[in-house]
Amino acid sequence: MRQKMAAGNWKMNGTGAALAELETLIQAQHAAKSELLICPPATLLSRAAEIAADSSLAIGGQDCHAASSGAHTGDLSSEMLKDAGATAVILGHSERRADHNETSKTVAAKTKSAWSAGLTAIVCLGETLAEREAGDTLKVVGSQLAASLPDGATGQNTVIAYEPVWAIGTGKVPSLDQIAEVHDFLRHALTTRFGAEMAAATRLLYGGSVKPGNAAEIFATSNVDGALVGGASLKSADFSPIIAALDAS
Ligand code: 13P
Repeated sequence: MRQKMAAGNWKMNGTGAALAELETLIQAQHAAKSELLICPPATLLSRAAEIAADSSLAIGGQDCHAASSGAHTGDLSSEMLKDAGATAVILGHSERRADHNETSKTVAAKTKSAWSAGLTAIVCLGETLAEREAGDTLKVVGSQLAASLPDGATGQNTVIAYEPVWAIGTGKVPSLDQIAEVHDFLRHALTTRFGAEMAAATRLLYGGSVKPGNAAEIFATSNVDGALVGGASLKSADFSPIIAALDAS
């Protein structure tokens, strides 16, 4: 009942020249079964949305402010993202939690704002290496999930991305058992709080060094409904085989 999802997070990469990759991706993946999303830097949002109009590729933001407008120099509201053509927004990415001191409480406020603008919130969580080595992984992701998700989350307005901090951009990937343990735990936590129907409808993405070479085994793992991909989403030649692996899973 859950449509698989392949989401690309371009982070702070790409100027106008990178939009050619979107056109290539749209042509290569016009028949993809999975839901496809690319989150470019905000400067490219409207141009990306124009290119992706009438295709099956959706465009998303990488963050938004919790307020709908006001004196917040440099920030963007969820309504602005929506107006620029976004249908989703990544929230609580570990790089924002680390670089901008975002707490789960802030993430919850941003999630509410995203929902009110009609955006799907892709809420990120994940443990650091020190937390994993201390045996605290489930405790950490459990408390991040609880505090980052407001009441009212549904399988339509929310996607969860499990991204172990130590796996992001490092080429290191948890074992498949470790991924399954966290994803099974997250599904169970959603069931306990929001009920079986919501939990069954909510996509759980894995993120952290997903590449064409490891995508198939990750997608065959329990309760993995897709991926949030950083580096390998920048080039259609890398992202396309990941999408193909997801379609085949
Ligand atoms: P990488 O795929 O580059 O490891 O990044 C993952 C990520 O942070 C996606 O949000």
